[in-house]
Amino acid sequence: MSHPASGSRSVPFVNFSAQFAEERSELLPLIEAAFAKGEFVGGAAIELLEAEAARWLGARHVVALNSGTDALILGMKALGIGPGDEVITPPNSFVASTAAVVAAGATPVFVDVLPDQNIDPQAVAAAVTSRTRAIMPVHLTGRIADMAPLKALAERHGLAVVEDAAQSFGSRYDGRLSGTFGHVGCFSAHPLKNLNAAGDAGLLVTDDDKVAGTVRLLRNHGLIDRNRVEIWGGVSRLDTIQAEILRLRLRRLGPVLERRRANAALYHRLLADTPVFMPPCRTIEYNTFHTFVVQVDRRDDLQAHLTAHGIGSAIHYPVPIHLQPAAASLGYGKGAFPVVETQAARILSLPVNQYLTEDDIAYVSATIREFFV
Ligand SMILES: Cc1ncc(COP(=O)(O)O)c(C=O)c1O
Repeated sequence: MSHPASGSRSVPFVNFSAQFAEERSELLPLIEAAFAKGEFVGGAAIELLEAEAARWLGARHVVALNSGTDALILGMKALGIGPGDEVITPPNSFVASTAAVVAAGATPVFVDVLPDQNIDPQAVAAAVTSRTRAIMPVHLTGRIADMAPLKALAERHGLAVVEDAAQSFGSRYDGRLSGTFGHVGCFSAHPLKNLNAAGDAGLLVTDDDKVAGTVRLLRNHGLIDRNRVEIWGGVSRLDTIQAEILRLRLRRLGPVLERRRANAALYHRLLADTPVFMPPCRTIEYNTFHTFVVQVDRRDDLQAHLTAHGIGSAIHYPVPIHLQPAAASLGYGKGAFPVVETQAARILSLPVNQYLTEDDIAYVSATIREFFV
């Protein structure tokens, strides 16, 4: 039988050139204007982005930062989380989640995850000690963690909730937007994210005036005005040009998220009766699919099969954080988190970007079906 997917076709995992082509006429004048004004650090664009993002999210404050990593670090510092404190978080995230806890001076405490790759609230409950200060759920792939039991747990024990919302701008859970559940919500706007800058960028969300004020100081040398240093800080500011790019892309974000959701829904239909496990979407979830991660046996063989057919894919992430050399001193060994470790060998991120056509998704699905025949 001839393969429906043969030929020289290619389905890219990401498509920056399509994004540039789509927005070029609006984007380049913004950059030109920034150069004409000579405004590269600070300025109106930062405040406008913060106000527009806060309105989009229905939050009191958004603070524009240079990365999602610094949003996590500064958010924890502003909440007073530091040495001697434990922060409960899953080990299947991008390393930045855990590294931020360490950078804040606190101790990461790992727990296992659910079949959908998000933190297991029961495992969190079992890991709370007298030293626990915060829970850091990671909304992996763009699916919000099960926040109802996590919030209840945090309230019961007086813990802070630091949302690693890096992958989930615009996602909702029970009608509520990602980043607005916790004391702080931390977004990445790295080029690979759904709301993306043309370089490193991040946003911190909070309803707490004091936390927002402290993060604003920490991002800019602790300077309260030009010559007065209120606290020790650093440089975690967002560049002005990146703020202009994010303002433009925030205005265009709705259809981007809808396209990604439509692609994911099509995969669910076309791969429904195959050995491919796709975490089902509960009705309370509105997922934005930063990644579309499936779980399969013989993952590496399937990835090679897709590559041979011109289909981009990725693994987010093949080595769990607790098994990284940097984590050795935390004392977790192989076998500590069976669900995370099993998933690490089975997960594969399929292309889901907003520039794919229905035909592209059908081609990827047909290529996968052929693999399992
Ligand atoms: C889950 C998660 N946390 C944190 C980060 C860190 O964000 P950034 O790369 O903007 O520092 C990322 C993204 O890279 C991420 O995917």
